[in-house]
Amino acid sequence: MIVVTGGSGFIGSEVCRQLYEKGKEARIIDIAPPPLATRAEFVRASVLDCARLERLIKGAESVIHLAALIDVQSSISNPFSDFQVNVQGTLNVLECARRVGVSRVVFASSAAVYGNPVHLPISESHPTAPLSPYGTSKLSAEHFVILYSKLYGMNNTVLRLFNVYGQGQNPLSPYSGVVAKFASALQEGKQPIIYGDGGQTRDFVHVKDAASAFLLAIESEASDTPINIGSGKETKVIELLNKMCEVAGRPCTPQFLPQRKGEIMRSVADISLAKRKIGYYPKVRLEEGLKELLKTKPTSFHQLL
Ligand SMILES: NC(=O)c1ccc[n+]([C@@H]2O[C@H](COP(=O)([O-])OP(=O)(O)OC[C@H]3O[C@@H](n4cnc5c(N)ncnc54)[C@H](O)[C@@H]3O)[C@@H](O)[C@H]2O)c1
Repeated sequence: MIVVTGGSGFIGSEVCRQLYEKGKEARIIDIAPPPLATRAEFVRASVLDCARLERLIKGAESVIHLAALIDVQSSISNPFSDFQVNVQGTLNVLECARRVGVSRVVFASSAAVYGNPVHLPISESHPTAPLSPYGTSKLSAEHFVILYSKLYGMNNTVLRLFNVYGQGQNPLSPYSGVVAKFASALQEGKQPIIYGDGGQTRDFVHVKDAASAFLLAIESEASDTPINIGSGKETKVIELLNKMCEVAGRPCTPQFLPQRKGEIMRSVADISLAKRKIGYYPKVRLEEGLKELLKTKPTSFHQLL
């Protein structure tokens, strides 16, 4: 049995689906219920409740730790909650796993640990200089994950995810990714908003590929350095919108608003380490992923069920 903290979320649901496909049992630990279609066992519990966490992790082969607060802006207005769930919560998962003899934790970190890129593509040796409490909480949690491997001989791995997109991402959240926002605007016939001229770039990785990296990591040797998980391709936000309009068969007339202060202008992952260490090769082309996303009705988004 694999424990998936945050298994009710966007990436966690796909991780559980893939585990089921591989014939692996999964136990979700989450404060929110999973999508109705899940075949995993669901236990409503917080990663902040150490006593319960220990009982729930006992007997697991490994833990995929995704539970987190993910809103960058909220982390700025409320750094304490972010710190609690993302840092204390990760330490709880590690300590509980260690106490009950579960030796593998795979942790979902973020490209937010890098801050403003000083070189591209961003390899794992790129300096870390997060620009938000969210990024700082992820970096701090990463250090605990790697420390626990060194101190206690655990076989932990850190995956640094870039911009994950796909079905199931909450388009209603003001903090959801640009793909979900464009998709919801196009599906509702609203004008998509671009901040700046749309020349900023991101590495968009499909949720199926991102989730597959966790399954590969639990089967691979542990890594003492974090591993980037992206597509390895750089896409301009304006190009993304053009592709989405093409797929949706709609004219593209975005509303351009002023550039947001502090926005990162370029981002793309070097994924060569992921290829070497865990055999990760992203499969879903952006056009394909967008096509699949745009054919989904907005109401089929799982958190609305
Ligand atoms: N989506 C992305 O593009 C992206 C990029 C980089 C990193 N990540 C990381 O991947 C992980 C999953 O992200 P996601 O996009 O699926 O987010 P999500 O918000 O959909 O999922 C997070 C889940 O964690 C749960 N959770 C929150 N607090 C909890 C607590 N105290 N105890 C138990 N569960 C709790 C939430 O209920 C939610 O189901 C997160 O750790 C996030 O930081 C995501």
